[in-house]
Amino acid sequence: MSERHKIALLGPGAIGTTIAAALHEVNRTPLLCGRTAHAQLILRHDEGEVTVPGPVLNQPADVTQPVDLLFVAVKTTQVEECAPWLASLCDERTVVCALQNGVEQQTQLAPYVQGATVLPSVVWFPAQREADASVWLRAQPRLTLPDVLQAQPIVAALSGTRCAVDLAADFLSVAWRKLLQNAAAGLMVLANRRAGMFRRDDIAGLTLALLHECLAVARAEGAVLEDGVPEEILAGFRRAPEDLGTSILADRQANRPLEWDIRNGVIQRYGQLHGIATPVSDVIVPLLAAGSTGPG
Ligand SMILES: NC(=O)c1ccc[n+]([C@@H]2O[C@H](COP(=O)([O-])OP(=O)(O)OC[C@H]3O[C@@H](n4cnc5c(N)ncnc54)[C@H](OP(=O)(O)O)[C@@H]3O)[C@@H](O)[C@H]2O)c1
Repeated sequence: MSERHKIALLGPGAIGTTIAAALHEVNRTPLLCGRTAHAQLILRHDEGEVTVPGPVLNQPADVTQPVDLLFVAVKTTQVEECAPWLASLCDERTVVCALQNGVEQQTQLAPYVQGATVLPSVVWFPAQREADASVWLRAQPRLTLPDVLQAQPIVAALSGTRCAVDLAADFLSVAWRKLLQNAAAGLMVLANRRAGMFRRDDIAGLTLALLHECLAVARAEGAVLEDGVPEEILAGFRRAPEDLGTSILADRQANRPLEWDIRNGVIQRYGQLHGIATPVSDVIVPLLAAGSTGPG
């Protein structure tokens, strides 16, 4: 019987490659599982690059044992098709760390993970896949996790790596704050422009209107967020490099399905639940949904 592998990574894309490289640099190289077979992964960062030796397995049947810790970095639109991977990689002793946007990772992953513990995270760093299959890390990697005992295996795995980990007692509020940022970034898809577009005054006004309705929904869900959060998020976009994109824009430009539902649809859905009007989301959500899957 083969030995139980300690750490695996499912989805070696922009975020997954960053975490795999951080682990590899401290000799905790994870088992790499993905859709496309690669001999190795390459992460480029400000000081150089890291090569993570592969191979990237692309057949769930090649996994012989569940793992202790699984990082999931597939898009939320790809979870369902990853069911065979999750069945092979997880059992009730596995801790699954969702490296995904949104506030619904636990609900989304739970049906597939064979009783494993799912912990959400907030991924704070931008990374992008490049044409040569490498990943360009565009900021210091940092995650926030809920401050619970079950987070300890994740903290231990990432200790001493280039990826910082914060623990948040009020994780819900942190996750909703990030969601507000993601919801506003959806506007980049509709303009087909990167962060520079937020320097326009008309876009700034639209962004604030969207962020104020998101804030009302977040608060109704229990998030504790200051009145100034929409202005802070807008200021962050206006300070960002003009060419800084977002993963949903990269997906649109590559004509891939969009994570519109967990980033923008969620505002409309929870708004309806709480009786909160979401007029900006009511316009942009159908446009994002149609941009994702058409028809047309
Ligand atoms: N990128 C960012 O800057 C950023 C920042 C914060 C949060 N996030 C969030 O992080 C999550 C991951 O985003 P990302 O940008 O890293 O995505 P990504 O670059 O598209 O990576 C997704 C990875 O999953 C693989 N995959 C897709 N379907 C699969 C399947 N059926 N089985 C196995 N592997 C599969 C993809 O393989 P292929 O190579 O075959 O496509 C790719 O390696 C998303 O929820 C995103 O919103 C991203």
